[in-house]
Amino acid sequence: MSVLSGKKILLGVTAGIAAYKSAFLVRLLVKKGAEVRVVMTPAAKEFVTPLTLSTLSKNEVLSTFTDEDNENAQWNNHVALGLWADLFLIAPATANTLSKMAHGNSDNLLVATYLSAKCPVYFAPAMDLDMYQHPSTKETFETLASFGNTIIPAAHGELASGLVGQGRMAEPEEIVSFLEQDILNSLPLKNKKFLITAGPTYEAIDPVRFIGNHSSGKMGYALASEAARLGAEVTLISGPSSEKIPEGSLQVIKVTSAQEMYEAVEPLFRNCDVAILSAAVADYRPKNVASQKIKKKEQGLVLELEKTRDILASLGNEKKNQFLVGFALETENELENAKTKLKKKNLDLIVLNSLNDEGVAFGANTNKVTLIDANNKIDSFGVKEKKDVARDIIETIIEKLNA
Ligand code: CTP
Repeated sequence: MSVLSGKKILLGVTAGIAAYKSAFLVRLLVKKGAEVRVVMTPAAKEFVTPLTLSTLSKNEVLSTFTDEDNENAQWNNHVALGLWADLFLIAPATANTLSKMAHGNSDNLLVATYLSAKCPVYFAPAMDLDMYQHPSTKETFETLASFGNTIIPAAHGELASGLVGQGRMAEPEEIVSFLEQDILNSLPLKNKKFLITAGPTYEAIDPVRFIGNHSSGKMGYALASEAARLGAEVTLISGPSSEKIPEGSLQVIKVTSAQEMYEAVEPLFRNCDVAILSAAVADYRPKNVASQKIKKKEQGLVLELEKTRDILASLGNEKKNQFLVGFALETENELENAKTKLKKKNLDLIVLNSLNDEGVAFGANTNKVTLIDANNKIDSFGVKEKKDVARDIIETIIEKLNA
């Protein structure tokens, strides 16, 4: 999945011949899953029609402060448009519009929107080679860079004038790759490897029966999804769960038993930066697994159970520089029990769930957590959707990694 998926992208189109490529650009951005709106300078309509761009973006295209043909028209709100966008891309960006942007000359809707936008701004210049090299243009680029705007450099090639040199707008594919790479580079978990366990484990009694628990895997899947969204390379080791595999840079390994989970986790732990063990691993398993289905007898059945390996404690033992996070589900003396687990299992952070809290239940979409770090610093959060709880947990981990 592209990092552009779900992003609100405002495309500004100005009056250069490269405006014909805006149609391809809109199409590519929409294909990447972005929501696209287009604002044009009035002169840009000479090069590409608003109808083309509104059809491709599935949104009305704006170019003037009001609909000039409609006397009851409402003001096109450039402030709202600027605030709506997660990202403002001006492509093609002519020397004229760039100069207006650098000097705050908001005599059209596009530049007024630019001045109102709080999101990252990218611009892809398109002009003839001498214009591109002119000291005035270079000064404009520097001014815009000093505002925090990012240039997508023009390419070298044949220009509309027939001359050959730098000034051609980057191709739509290059612009989209540039945006993706720039966003990826700015993500807080870029280059970080996350190992996350989720769901229950099933411990076989015989070929048809098992000992399991009610864990749905929702919390672990939400954590995996959030870490991937923030740029981490995630491996999710999941026990039996019907949760949908999250999209993004994410590998999923499905396991069934505690032993299988351990065997999947252990070799990956050495090379990970952060391990979050949210799985509800069975503490016991049948000592002997019957090879055939156990038949019903007159008397009751006694199963002998043995302990499973505590995966979290094993990782705590072999931990070097990894940041290790465990979960604790408690019903009494919650804080004390969680603090004891944190120490005993050599963790950096423990996520405490109390079954006494409202909104905490197996299979629920909500959760309420308290985070305790290795210095016994306690952060309590309210009842939230699991995806928001995941956000709180991952944000806390980022803070601690950067501390
Ligand atoms: N865990 C694990 N392997 C196990 C059991 C638990 O990795 N065999 C991990 C869970 O993923 C969780 C943490 O240990 O992150 C806490 O599990 P929990 O069952 O609450 O605690 P226990 O240490 O097993 O203690 P108790 O059941 O007595 O509360």
